[in-house]
Amino acid sequence: MNPRIRIAPSLLSADFARLAEEIAEIEAAGADLLHLDLMDGHFVPNLTFGPPVIAALARYATIGLDAHLMVTDPDPLVPQLADAGVLRTAVHVETCRHLHRTLAGIRDAGMEAGVALNPATPLTSIDEILGDIDFVLIMSVNPGFGGQAFIPSSLSKIRRLRRLIGEGVQDISVDGGVDQNTAGPLAAAGATTLIAGSAIFGSPDRVRALAALRQAAQRGAES
Ligand code: DX5
Ligand code: ZN
Repeated sequence: MNPRIRIAPSLLSADFARLAEEIAEIEAAGADLLHLDLMDGHFVPNLTFGPPVIAALARYATIGLDAHLMVTDPDPLVPQLADAGVLRTAVHVETCRHLHRTLAGIRDAGMEAGVALNPATPLTSIDEILGDIDFVLIMSVNPGFGGQAFIPSSLSKIRRLRRLIGEGVQDISVDGGVDQNTAGPLAAAGATTLIAGSAIFGSPDRVRALAALRQAAQRGAES
């Protein structure tokens, strides 16, 4: 397998007082998607932003918006995110009482549908909905904060998921602790979208940081 690996900077680690400029910078650096972390202070112990802020950012962004819902009740947000112009939305399997219905709602609203799994959540939890999604988001840290240490067992989880869904069928995104050291092994394991917050926005030179991630990932994918 030798897919093109997409790099999705996570806005969580950007300067929240300069969001439009931060977005312009990572777009110029060649980012493929803009990852947006919605947190509600309940499912995760942190609060970020919601649809009004995303709608405002959508007027500046030219790359696809990638929403990651870390909220206990994702369903009411789905139409609002679609209206805001979001390209794809992931919900956590741990938060959805009616996962199939929620995923269908995301697709019906015109977005790509993804399901996110916490580190402790087994792959078997999504067995029955693999045919109803466009991507899986593997969390390689416990969600809530940027800058946490990568959980190494995420690699074998991604490898097992790739075997399960086959090559080139669906996107496997990975989120948490993605940096120059983990990007290669993640791409080799079968991840095709790498979400990175601190490794990109934490660097003074975003062009170089993004290029380094891409190079490491591409090498891993070709290994
Ligand atoms: C964590 C978020 C991530 C976060 C990743 O809950 O879902 O998107 O921004 O940050 P890093 O890349 O710094 O681990
Ligand atoms: Zn995220």
